[in-house]
Amino acid sequence: MKNILVTGGAGFIGSNFIRHMLEKHQEYKIINVDVLTYAGNLENLKGIANEQNYKFIKADIRDRKKIDDIFTTYNITTVVNFAAESHVDRSIEEPEVFLTTNIIGTQVLLDTAKKYWKVNPDDKYCKQYKPGVKFLQISTDEVYGALGSTGMFVEAMPLLPNSPYSASKASADLIVRAYHETYGMPVNITRCSNNYGPYQFPEKLIPLMINNCINNKDLPVYGDGMQVRDWLHVSDHCSAIDTVLHKGADGEIYNIGGNNEKTNIEIVKLIIKTLGKSEELIKYVKDRPGHDRRYAIDNSKITSQLGWAPAYTFEEGMKETIEWYLNNTDWIYNIVSGDYQMYYMKMYD
Ligand code: NAD
Ligand code: DAU
Repeated sequence: MKNILVTGGAGFIGSNFIRHMLEKHQEYKIINVDVLTYAGNLENLKGIANEQNYKFIKADIRDRKKIDDIFTTYNITTVVNFAAESHVDRSIEEPEVFLTTNIIGTQVLLDTAKKYWKVNPDDKYCKQYKPGVKFLQISTDEVYGALGSTGMFVEAMPLLPNSPYSASKASADLIVRAYHETYGMPVNITRCSNNYGPYQFPEKLIPLMINNCINNKDLPVYGDGMQVRDWLHVSDHCSAIDTVLHKGADGEIYNIGGNNEKTNIEIVKLIIKTLGKSEELIKYVKDRPGHDRRYAIDNSKITSQLGWAPAYTFEEGMKETIEWYLNNTDWIYNIVSGDYQMYYMKMYD
């Protein structure tokens, strides 16, 4: 049996991934390590807390001692590292925690994995690892920087991150790569485009706009609203990670995206229309500093080499997502009634 350490599993993508894995692969044990920041929410995992092959541990990935204990106790054979500070706007306000969690936290996990997985950990020239082990780093397309009106991100492109968030993610990618090159660690890095779907924290564009629209509140569009993002349903991201986990070649980087480029204003108008509200709710606000203009993922490596393809069309995915938020107003209410309210007032008022 594989014992998979999923970090950040109480967040948006991590919790969806744990559900996916428990459904598809009963043969694995999932150990979810999450420190439960403002973005971590155990309600995202409701219904699976007592499953036999699932265990939650509250811990910080920067805590070397705790991570070491977890590797010993659970004989970890695979790491899927989702844990991160993930919101660009917050990284502009308070960059430091992005550097410690996203970079140092990743390095602590890599170091511990090296200690337990290397056949001869005392021999610095040994590049042999126990069979079947893997470290999978969940990265982002933002590490490539911004595109003009044409072109797409490919894996071989130089990294040109523009925000403290994306710079921290790019740094983590380079550390992961270095552990492969120097120590021979079996690693993969995935770089995905913008995700949407159930359990996304309502600081991000789509759930924020749905929640505000439901409550007839202003819809704050940054700048001219013509920035482009390439949207992927979170369950397609999870199936892509599952594919890389099982089929990814050691040391390789895989872009993940669903070829769904949309301007922000298109998304906002689609939400308004679906919810039957008025475009008068749209409020253009000051632009995000250093705002990346366009992202677009070339996914041909993962589709042609590993045979992965997204299942959702954007239209189906958005319809289902809007319905999910309409049916889960309690989930949103529990979040927006606390600290989030203060964050929102600071950002938008
Ligand atoms: P999220 O903010 O919803 O969740 C992050 C989780 O990490 C939270 O549960 C939080 O409590 C946990 N965490 C934060 N710091 C921690 C620490 N020091 N120790 C342990 N746990 C910690 O983020 P998300 O949107 O689910 O993103 C997950 C990963 O995917 C991130 O690495 C992000 O960079 C990457 N990613 C996200 C997207 C997207 O569109 N959301 C796209 C591509 C890549
Ligand atoms: O591309 C992948 C990245 O996507 C991930 O690595 C990040 O973790 C994730 O947060 C996301 O980053 P973005 O900055 O693209 O996502 P966000 O939802 O914050 O914003 C999407 C776009 O919408 C962006 O152009 C900014 C704009 N926006 C966002 C908010 C929150 C608005 O116009 N108004 C808003 O209120």
